[in-house]
Amino acid sequence: MEDIKLDSLEGVGPVTTRKLSDAGIHNMMDLIVRGPVEISNITGMEKETAEKIVTKARKYLADSGQLAKDFVSASDIYKRRQEIGKISTGTECLDTLLDGGVETQALTEVYGEFGCGKTQFCHTLCVMVQKSIEEGGLGGGVLYIDSENTFRPERIVSIAQANGMDPQRILDNIIVARAYNSAHQVLILEEAGTIIRESDIKLLVADSAVGLFRSEYLGRGTLSERQQKLNHFVHLLVRIAETYNCAAVATNQVMSSPDVFFGDPTKPIGGNVVAHTSTYRIYFKKSGKKRIARMVDSPHHPEEEVVFSIGEAGIIDPEDTKTKKTTKKPKAEPTDTAKDDAT
Ligand code: GTP
Ligand code: MG
Repeated sequence: MEDIKLDSLEGVGPVTTRKLSDAGIHNMMDLIVRGPVEISNITGMEKETAEKIVTKARKYLADSGQLAKDFVSASDIYKRRQEIGKISTGTECLDTLLDGGVETQALTEVYGEFGCGKTQFCHTLCVMVQKSIEEGGLGGGVLYIDSENTFRPERIVSIAQANGMDPQRILDNIIVARAYNSAHQVLILEEAGTIIRESDIKLLVADSAVGLFRSEYLGRGTLSERQQKLNHFVHLLVRIAETYNCAAVATNQVMSSPDVFFGDPTKPIGGNVVAHTSTYRIYFKKSGKKRIARMVDSPHHPEEEVVFSIGEAGIIDPEDTKTKKTTKKPKAEPTDTAKDDAT
């Protein structure tokens, strides 16, 4: 993607350029992603001035065909949607659920209790996205925001090998950013623009998107602040996905705890902020050794469930159960209980 410098904008001189670049805004795409309110907050410039600059940038990019215009015909939207890429999950079952794979220009949220496979799903996508378009990938790199220290290169190596790909090359195209606290996690994303452009990133992972916010903002008194910050983070994810035509995947944990007195047990921790922003939401559930994935709300997918497994090759199709002897009685499905502390 072309890197259009700020001083190509009429009325933006060296002083403003300097002020913006000190705040981590280096080109026009950054202006669009951050938006006028935030730009005014971080640079101290008047909100009106920031609005003017962002409007000019938007117009510049729209005129040069790099961004959708403000008023567009449905056929233009259709055209832009035709540019949506899909990352195959490498499994028939999840590709069916996702109607081909994880989409670009969208945020896909995966939620479920611990050990249900959210991180394994992310690792698998890190490899799959690097396949060519013909093979179900997007031929691009990954930016992986790891807030739980659960990114494991060894897993990437085994998933790459299982797919007959060169592990070294696959690892080279994954940039990992370890987030130490929620403010740091937000900062990483705010500054991601340059890396996304330079490294041809096609997949952005936030694993977990919500965990740090949850551990730092405890109690009901801090809830609105937490939701506001989380809201900002999640919206940034969506804007980046739309602006750079890349896929964003965020994970979110559902608590499995007995001390639940209210709320929907399968509601994710992020609560409504995440729900209303995600374009796709998938719920993962453990069922013995197998996993169940359900498409929860999507503008155009039917709500359905599929069964998958986890193995050396990452997320895999379930083995043929008919050939396997079952020694144990089938257990009743575990019930998930969640603390919906976001309501
Ligand atoms: P939290 O981050 O704790 O919320 O969980 P998660 O949903 O991210 O779970 P994760 O993706 O880490 O899944 C863990 C599951 O994957 C466990 O059941 C592991 O047994 C399984 N798993 C991880 N690595 C391998 C592997 O190399 N082979 C196999 N067969 N299973 C694995
Ligand atoms: Mg995890």
